[in-house]
Amino acid sequence: MSQKNKSTVKKKNAVPNNKVLTDKKILDEIIRVDHAGEYGATRIYDGQIAVFGKDSKIGKTIQHMADQEQEHIEKFNELLVEKRVRPTALLPLWNIAGFALGAGTALMGEKAAMACTVAVEKVIGEHYREQQELLKDDEKELKKTIAKFEKDELEHHDIGLEHDAENAPGYKIMTKVIELGCKTAIAISKKI
Ligand SMILES: [Fe+2]
Ligand SMILES: [Fe+2]
Repeated sequence: MSQKNKSTVKKKNAVPNNKVLTDKKILDEIIRVDHAGEYGATRIYDGQIAVFGKDSKIGKTIQHMADQEQEHIEKFNELLVEKRVRPTALLPLWNIAGFALGAGTALMGEKAAMACTVAVEKVIGEHYREQQELLKDDEKELKKTIAKFEKDELEHHDIGLEHDAENAPGYKIMTKVIELGCKTAIAISKKI
């Protein structure tokens, strides 16, 4: 076989059926940042439930969202292992920051806690939407998972609105600050 033919065969084997492959660096970043985000989300809701108590009416509503976050983090725990991705080194920071954000907003009242949910879930929902564009044919399963989680996050966002989040004192400035915080956390957790 000539040198030219050899390289053609090699190429064909590397990319079967002309599948478009997801960039491995992007895939790693997606799994790392989503794992970090879901971990942070579980801690935010832990903080809120710690303040309101599990058995209060609002506590039960938050528990429903917390249960879904638990499913999300478990899935990303599996994906870290399956795809051999290093988790962010900042988990201890998101542990404390997430809990503080949840407990802090809950101490300001139910509406403020729900405003926190609206802000966080808006950013995560949009982030999940963007990620689906980056995943190619070889990551259909992950794309489906992220689409499902996006739906859950948007449901959480709407639960926040239904619980009068917009009437929290300082709603506009608070949600802007939290959104900015989440976007910063996302940018950092992709890399570190
Ligand atoms: Fe989630
Ligand atoms: Fe969520």
